[in-house]
Amino acid sequence: MRRRLPHVYLWGVTPEATAVEAFRHRYEADPEIVCVAPGRVNLIGEHTDYNEGFVFPAAIDRHVVIAARRATGDGSSIFSLERKGIGQFHVNFVAPGQALDRRWWDYLAGMAWALRDETRQKLPDIDAIVHSTVPIGSGVSSSAALEMACGVMWNELAGIGLSPRELAKLGQRCENQFIGINSGIMDQMASAMGRAGHALFIDTRSLDVQYAPLPKGLAIVLCDTKKPRSLTASAYNERRRQCEAGAAAMSLASLRDATLAALEAADLDSVTFRRCRHVVTENARCIEFKAALKMGDREAIGRLMRASHESLRDDYEVSCPELDAMAEAAWGAPGCVGARMTGAGFGGACVALVAKRAVEEFTSATLAAYDRETNLSGEALTCNVADGAHRTR
Ligand code: GLA
Repeated sequence: MRRRLPHVYLWGVTPEATAVEAFRHRYEADPEIVCVAPGRVNLIGEHTDYNEGFVFPAAIDRHVVIAARRATGDGSSIFSLERKGIGQFHVNFVAPGQALDRRWWDYLAGMAWALRDETRQKLPDIDAIVHSTVPIGSGVSSSAALEMACGVMWNELAGIGLSPRELAKLGQRCENQFIGINSGIMDQMASAMGRAGHALFIDTRSLDVQYAPLPKGLAIVLCDTKKPRSLTASAYNERRRQCEAGAAAMSLASLRDATLAALEAADLDSVTFRRCRHVVTENARCIEFKAALKMGDREAIGRLMRASHESLRDDYEVSCPELDAMAEAAWGAPGCVGARMTGAGFGGACVALVAKRAVEEFTSATLAAYDRETNLSGEALTCNVADGAHRTR
């Protein structure tokens, strides 16, 4: 028995409670399983993951929740509280090539396909409610959170026993082979393996993770330009191809092993040269940042985040006027330790590390300066650093 959800439903105190309430309302039963997965910010190490480089993300307390039971009817039926439309598919029949019209439930279908293809196990179809507090289009990995939430759910329901790292790999496979974006593995690793209070220094070649505590006096503020990301898929895949061409020209398997000296000696056109220079310098900044964070060296944190933004703007060309205006606004605001664009770019948000005692002043000064410069209303979200994806009931 399924009931339509009213337009206004009772919001629970937590995202999890909201999803459970909505599930009870729609199916008149308790969910069999509830799983949550966080979005992420990336502090530094941008566009390095598909070059086997270093990244430094942190999972944030904005979550995708999935409340589900084994399907009572034919096939899976998934209702999102935020998106329009009910996702309907058969988990054991979905296959790459079916995600051509980019529907929100492609991420669930793609994860089901990746899990099945990897493990050769059948999965149960589900009746489910999906609820998300991860901002969409802001570059904080709402899609990776969706992949990891349903990955954990099927892993548990089918008793497969994959580790969080293995689920992250399957999430990347879903993006690459089902959705068609040649992304790296940072977002899924952050969502699957996050730890409260810690950022993750990830070597994307070995997938080794080192947990780095965030200094107590610093807050993470997400400064959203409210400019939705555009052209992301094609420009993203193009950047990746340019990096691969640069590595090939230096006879390297990836840019992880490139040096500035090798770049200068190679015969690269100026665009490829700048793309590669971003990756090489960003890897170095990421390593330096790890030491700076450990020492609580605010001057170095600020300098490295700023240099990262400038390199993404000038060499990698994935920023946009709104992200530049937001970064400038943040750099000039009281309490700012460091700020830069976060995620793939072309719109979305900046991440700022801010002295905890000055968060309010920082937020109002940044948004006012951004508004003066662009005539746009941005939005600031203070984020706590959360645990990775897990089952909650
Ligand atoms: C997106 C991708 C990640 C990473 C970033 C840029 O978020 O999903 O794999 O490449 O862009 O750093």
